[in-house]
Amino acid sequence: MNQNTFTSMSGVAGENFLTEGDLNLSPLRERWTAENIDAATRLLLEEDAKYFLHQSLSTPCLNVLRACEGAYIEDRQGRRILDFHGNAVHQVGFRNPKVIEAVIRQLQVLPFCTRRYTNEPAILLAKKLAQLAPDSLGKVLLAPGGALAMGMALKLARMATGRFKTVSMWDAFHGASLDTISIGGEALFRRDIGPLLPGTEHVPPPNTAECPFKCGSQCSLQCAEYLEYVLRKEGDVGAVIAETVRSAPFFPPREYWQAVRAACDRHGALLILDEIPHALGRTGTMFTCEHYGIEPDILVIGKGLGGGLLPLAALIARKDLDIATDRALGHYTHEKNPVACAAALATIAYIEEEDILSHVRSLGAFTLEQLNAMQARHWLIHSVQGQGLMLGVTIDARDDSVEAAEDIMYKALAAGLNFKLTMGTTIQLMPALCITRTEMEQALRILEQVITDVEARLISSRLVLQSQRRELTDSQR
Ligand SMILES: Cc1ncc(COP(=O)(O)O)c(C=O)c1O
Repeated sequence: MNQNTFTSMSGVAGENFLTEGDLNLSPLRERWTAENIDAATRLLLEEDAKYFLHQSLSTPCLNVLRACEGAYIEDRQGRRILDFHGNAVHQVGFRNPKVIEAVIRQLQVLPFCTRRYTNEPAILLAKKLAQLAPDSLGKVLLAPGGALAMGMALKLARMATGRFKTVSMWDAFHGASLDTISIGGEALFRRDIGPLLPGTEHVPPPNTAECPFKCGSQCSLQCAEYLEYVLRKEGDVGAVIAETVRSAPFFPPREYWQAVRAACDRHGALLILDEIPHALGRTGTMFTCEHYGIEPDILVIGKGLGGGLLPLAALIARKDLDIATDRALGHYTHEKNPVACAAALATIAYIEEEDILSHVRSLGAFTLEQLNAMQARHWLIHSVQGQGLMLGVTIDARDDSVEAAEDIMYKALAAGLNFKLTMGTTIQLMPALCITRTEMEQALRILEQVITDVEARLISSRLVLQSQRRELTDSQR
């Protein structure tokens, strides 16, 4: 698969800039805009571009939204689109009525909590998270965003171990702040930004598709052995930090996390698991580490915790890590925001009452089966990955892979299905967890139709190319 074509399409240098997200600058994007965006929307997009600082991954904006509900977003032109991206905040669907009701109730009574005071929704939420989390975890701190919660986890690990070094993974994303890009592993965030946090070592993630140990299709655990090697050689690492599963998506084997957990214990490093995009049910369990039979020392969650309405993240730490009483770990103005906490409580209640976890497991299994069947029908599909409703389809069209994946993305969008590409060629499928089977079938139909169309286009353009080459050779004879 050649991903270098992305260079010219994205306007930035080098395939190192392939990231978790698509880069928003390409001829296909321009074509999609020309074909799908009306004059009034275009004016708004121009205003957006005029007043916001531009930045990769976010601008130029694709479209203007006016509403959302359940598994759908609706654009200004009234098109309803199944949102299989949703920034992974839509565990309980967009505009969930139960969450909205809880938020409105709280807004009318206590919308803010002055420092030094606490409030009932915050206490109830901390208690609930402590009850839900793995047994050894039980102390909570809240923050108004995932990167901030990761930053608090880093500080807590330093204080608890007296060590500042960390080991984290290449290609990882833990947030966009300076401390989190230091432990993150994407060049788009790290390159040319100046000094990052010292002592932030990186190791290869358990991603068979790009394994430097060439493990093939099955993880051979050499990456876990190498991680332990680094812990041993450094000797003073305070924390290993990783996403339990990668939203890319890839899913390490159970033995990987068991080995890493044991290595952390042997070398005195805390294990911090970042489950910001997938805790609260996306993989079919409340917390993703439950699949692996391990408990981290600190678990960080966020995104959908605020019900897809309000920014909220949390770290849930081991009970005996309550050691920083004389220091500030967070001290964020909105850390115990009662409205965000009310949204989180209503979100968790919805997940429990509607048995969203079972729904995710059964619909996830159905979808994976359908995608595997689709792979058997389509040469463009290189592989299919999935756990619960975190699914991915990787496209391989040899030198045309990135362009083909992008074409699929924009064609699907025009047909009413939104998703993002990750690392250039993987279609990431993350619907609202409350999506119905009928809606899922509709999404799969759209996906298969556009893959069929792109395959046909590629075949005909390759045939044209072949015949042009033949004519050229004939004329040169
Ligand atoms: C794995 C992971 N960690 C951390 C973050 C950062 O969260 P936030 O954007 O709330 O700071 C994200 C956001 O995409 C994420 O996917």
